Amino acid sequence: MTTHLLKQRLLLGCIFVFSLVALAFSSIQPPVQAAAAAQAPAPATDASAAKQGEVLFQQSCAFCHGRDAMGGETGPDLTRSKLVLGDKTGDQIMAVIHEGRIEKKMPPFPFATPELRSLVAFIRARVVAADAQKGGRRGVDVADLQTGNVEQGKKFFEGAGTCSKCHSPTGDLAGIASKLKGLELEMRMLYPRDVLSKVAVTTRDGKTIAGKLAYLDEFTVGLRDADGVYHSWSIENVQYKVDSPVDAHVEMFPKYTDDDIHNLMAYLQTLR
Ligand code: HEC
Ligand code: HEC
Repeated sequence: MTTHLLKQRLLLGCIFVFSLVALAFSSIQPPVQAAAAAQAPAPATDASAAKQGEVLFQQSCAFCHGRDAMGGETGPDLTRSKLVLGDKTGDQIMAVIHEGRIEKKMPPFPFATPELRSLVAFIRARVVAADAQKGGRRGVDVADLQTGNVEQGKKFFEGAGTCSKCHSPTGDLAGIASKLKGLELEMRMLYPRDVLSKVAVTTRDGKTIAGKLAYLDEFTVGLRDADGVYHSWSIENVQYKVDSPVDAHVEMFPKYTDDDIHNLMAYLQTLR
């Protein structure tokens, strides 16, 4: 037990030092991509965590989920798992690993939090890689695209799906099905790409600066203003509010049933 705790402390220490280094680096050269994963640690840390996670994954998970996490004989493709794709914080993934799914024949793995986090980082890196490889195939098969019910889809769009809060079939989504086809449309619906969050930062003297969120971790918030100039602040010194419209999509992930997705797709495909 004590050695375990010690190991955990050591690991935490390493991660802390590492994030300091990452932070120092990031203030010289702000990462532009951070916005998409606003609450994730700095990209440099992610990459090193993913490396550690890869080692663990190959030891403990690969024989069921495949070396690339894309599915093996007894474990599902994690790069297409709704649970994985919808889990912004990593908590759900970590819970599955820690507790297992005994009734479905996945054993529990009593790893410590840093190890669990490294596994999450590896799985996420695999999602990105698999996506690039498969041209963005996410979660559903082509054959499923034509099986939905248009009326049900419309109902979901206006009701439970809350899509009409931000979209209109005669406004921004008019003609969407002519622009985007099949899986491309589905992928964009499930997980819009390249949409930067906005952020408004209010400094102690009451000045508010707004722009596109360019960096966020537990110490620093950074944005790019309308002229493309990067500004950053120590979080202690400012108030900030992030507006991330795409979160609505990510939050829907665990809530959709397969039928909801098929019905929505049927409906969206009528918007030509
Ligand atoms: C003995 C085979 C086996 C091993 C080893 C295994 N898993 Fe699994 N895992 C499964 C099965 C089977 C499921 C699907 C359970 C279900 O259908 O609910 C699963 C589900 C999952 C899920 C949830 C996917 C979802 O969409 O619900 C995650 C995340 C996961 N495994 C990660 C891991 C990680 C990380 C490891 C290694 C630490 C691991 N698994 C080791 C068999 C395994
Ligand atoms: C909180 C606001 C919000 C909600 C709710 C929302 N979306 Fe979106 N959606 C967005 C934003 C922002 C984008 C990115 C728009 C862009 O790229 O121009 C987007 C993109 C999309 C796209 C891709 C459009 C394109 O031109 O690439 C589709 C399709 C879509 N959403 C469908 C849906 C559906 C279906 C729902 C309901 C299940 C939904 N959205 C709920 C804000 C929202």
